[in-house]
Amino acid sequence: MTEKHILKPDIGLDDEVVNSVVQVLQTVLSDEMVLYVKLRNYHWNVTGQSFTALHALFEQQYTQLEATIDAIAERIRMYGATALGSMSAFIKTARLKEGDETLPDVNGMVKNLLHDHEAMVRHLRNDVETMDELDDVGAEDMLTGLLQEHQKMAWFLRTYLETL
Ligand SMILES: [Fe+2]
Repeated sequence: MTEKHILKPDIGLDDEVVNSVVQVLQTVLSDEMVLYVKLRNYHWNVTGQSFTALHALFEQQYTQLEATIDAIAERIRMYGATALGSMSAFIKTARLKEGDETLPDVNGMVKNLLHDHEAMVRHLRNDVETMDELDDVGAEDMLTGLLQEHQKMAWFLRTYLETL
């Protein structure tokens, strides 16, 4: 066996399957980066009566995403692939859209984030299905956990809007 063979992950998944799994993970990584930057933007620039609460809530959410982003990128490396690492690649690959140049008002910020978290729940449900079809239980488990995290983050934002 050549050294190259030994260094290639031998985890019971065909190359084609690995490529498909990695592609899904790169997309999720890109989505999370777009959402992460949006959360930081709003954390910095939120104003008004709810400043303290929302400044803290946005920080809590982007801190949670930081751990997620790192875990997804490192998982991509575990398959022997290179994780995407530039803003242009993230924007090109992501399903979520960057915010406009114009900053929304406070409620607009919360609504945009709620919309993105809910979109992630829908996307991840499909991605989990894809992982199931590809028989990658490790990635399926990770994305299921992520779906639950987005559901919870969406709930916090929805509750804020309901109590206005
Ligand atoms: Fe801060």
